[in-house]
Amino acid sequence: MNPLLSPSILSTDFCRLQETVEIINNSKADWLHLDIMDGVFVPNISFGFPVIESIANYCKKPLDAHLMTVHPDRYINRYKELKINTLTVHYETCTHLHRVVQQIKAAGMKAGVALNPHTPVSLLEDIADELDLALIMSVNPGFGGQSFIENSCRKISVLKEMIIRKGSPALIEVDGGVNLETGARLVHHGADVLVAGNFVFSSSNPLETVAQLKQLK
Ligand code: DX5
Ligand code: ZN
Repeated sequence: MNPLLSPSILSTDFCRLQETVEIINNSKADWLHLDIMDGVFVPNISFGFPVIESIANYCKKPLDAHLMTVHPDRYINRYKELKINTLTVHYETCTHLHRVVQQIKAAGMKAGVALNPHTPVSLLEDIADELDLALIMSVNPGFGGQSFIENSCRKISVLKEMIIRKGSPALIEVDGGVNLETGARLVHHGADVLVAGNFVFSSSNPLETVAQLKQLK
């Protein structure tokens, strides 16, 4: 099946954000991926609420927010006000992950959990039923344009088996180093949603690159 595609704006020129959002609006992308970094959980700071608000005013695609921030539970209602559709928190930032997932869903958003490259998929065993999305990081979070970590394909296979066995509705999203070559293998292993930043926005024709990624199966 063709994957859903969620382009990340992280590696774009933030002086031209409106133009970038319009490219995504006019493309075959399914979602827009927002990489929110706090300089604590990851060694980088990206953007925060005022920028997200501006993007939300122009974007016609559902917003897919990837929180690389500590204490994500403090801001759940704020993200809902900013029209976030899917709110994904990192497993490594949540002591009370079950509670956070319930709070995201109670606020009316879809709930996702992201795993760092070293975090085993088996740790989702007792929360998989509750998730709308599970995000496998195929690079260490913090920066766009990094090389794909090969072990991610194996993790997707293990996660796919778990999701089917448990009857979980969760989609599998993969984030980091996605291009046509890695994307094809990720879809083959069971990825439902591909995030792509550098590959889309360093391309001379982002609309065509999005269309090519959408054709993977
Ligand atoms: C990394 C981010 C990714 C990243 C993807 O922390 O979560 O979304 O920007 O970028 P590329 O596709 O450039 O690896
Ligand atoms: Zn991301």
